[in-house]
Amino acid sequence: MRVTVNRRAHFNSAHRLYNCEWSDARNSEVFGKCANPNFHGHNYELVVSVTGEIHPETGFVMDMKILKDLIRKEIEDQFDHKNLNEEVQEFKTLNPTAENISVVIWNKLRNKIDPKLDLSVTLYETPRNFVIYTGN
Ligand code: NI
Repeated sequence: MRVTVNRRAHFNSAHRLYNCEWSDARNSEVFGKCANPNFHGHNYELVVSVTGEIHPETGFVMDMKILKDLIRKEIEDQFDHKNLNEEVQEFKTLNPTAENISVVIWNKLRNKIDPKLDLSVTLYETPRNFVIYTGN
């Protein structure tokens, strides 16, 4: 029996979408208001999903306390109330789109979670816009 357990988390971050190889005009054309040089913020909602067999002794797929602490340490403490472009190493050279943020989060968590478990990251940038990354 493979079951998916999910943990919801949250962080507020500022970002700016920008390709440094492009002119300001081209950046504005492609990224619109998101290219604003003064940055803007989002209330990101994160759902981390872990799928695997139920452990016969614990009845857990994964101890949710461990997952909660992992998300807090690896993601929330790193991203919350930060300017992603300027304060998070991964985005010094990577455009902090929801797509790229979801991949960075997945990579940060993947090597901390038992390889026998599948990992999926769902990231809401707004209540209506969200992305999913499963490592493929
Ligand atoms: Ni934005």
